[in-house]
Amino acid sequence: MRRTLSIAITVSVIALGFWAESARAQSHGDLGCANCHVPHNALSAGDPNSSGPLWKPEVSGDPVVGAAYFTLYSSPTFDALGTDIGQPDGASKFCLGCHDGTYGSVTAEHTFGDGQSMTLAGSHPISFTYSSSLASSPNLKTPGSLRDPVTSPSGLTSGGTIASDLLDGNGKMQCTSCHDIHSHGIGPNHLRYDYESDGGVTMCRTCHNK
Ligand code: HEC
Ligand code: HEC
Ligand code: HEC
Ligand code: HEC
Repeated sequence: MRRTLSIAITVSVIALGFWAESARAQSHGDLGCANCHVPHNALSAGDPNSSGPLWKPEVSGDPVVGAAYFTLYSSPTFDALGTDIGQPDGASKFCLGCHDGTYGSVTAEHTFGDGQSMTLAGSHPISFTYSSSLASSPNLKTPGSLRDPVTSPSGLTSGGTIASDLLDGNGKMQCTSCHDIHSHGIGPNHLRYDYESDGGVTMCRTCHNK
């Protein structure tokens, strides 16, 4: 009886260990650099499919450039509507290469669609320029509610501003404004900020003066 019990426990411990290992292997840190970067034949600077540091072409080369593939975020109070917001570009397009289910060799479970049509309508807006002029625009629905990205600190240990730490090289808001997929980030979703302990107050107020 005791022997059966101890075998049962051993088997479950091994099973649990295996489960933990395969769950971890699914996360970015263990994806393998080669799923995202290639040493040769990467997207080159200026490529309309968006160029990053030696990004693998197959990831952000799909879907077709310029196609109105994603339904974008919109709301009556969204201040960046009518600016340069459009189909995802830069790092966001790269992330969505896997997170829309279209990149074959690594399929992310958390997707924004079904591989046919995608919606970003229910997600924080991305791929638009977040500039001082947007923040100081008299047309803001609530003037003063958006921090100046060039002068406001990011609050991250690097000690930079929103613009230097959170926006991309073109001054755009992207998935990478909130997520840092190289480090394990803070908490379960590779976030730049601790989102769990205060429900996002610190993170969201970095940019929103609410
Ligand atoms: C899931 C995709 C993904 C994986 C896996 C990945 N990277 Fe990256 N890498 C990116 C993205 C996206 C950027 C752009 C970073 C940004 O905009 O914040 C980047 C940027 C970089 C850069 C240049 C900028 C910087 O942050 O230093 C280097 C170097 C780099 N990655 C190396 C690596 C190495 C080495 C590995 C494997 C240990 C790796 N990456 C794994 C997506 C990935
Ligand atoms: C090469 C494919 C690939 C690319 C590119 C990619 N991801 Fe992922 N991502 C995955 C896979 C696979 C998982 C694990 C399964 C899942 O949760 O969907 C994952 C999981 C995640 C998770 C959930 C947390 C976790 O660790 O499981 C977040 C958040 C995430 N990715 C964000 C991003 C962001 C932001 C980018 C762009 C900077 C990006 N991903 C680019 C494949 C990718
Ligand atoms: C304004 C900040 C912000 C931006 C921008 C952002 N995310 Fe997230 N993301 C979060 C937070 C916070 C969570 C964890 C809470 C949750 O799951 O809703 C999360 C969770 C996730 C997850 C895991 C859970 C899930 O809901 O699927 C994935 C995958 C993900 N984000 C991918 C992306 C991608 C891809 C982009 C760009 C298209 C992006 N995120 C843009 C803040 C952001
Ligand atoms: C890196 C800066 C940044 C971070 C971090 C950030 N946002 Fe935003 N957010 C913006 C900008 C810029 C806009 C577009 C300008 C606007 O509509 O006021 C925006 C737009 C929004 C909108 C749409 C407003 C509308 O009227 O439709 C909401 C809601 C929002 N953010 C909530 C959040 C929440 C919640 C968080 C934390 C999870 C967060 N944001 C984190 C910069 C940021």
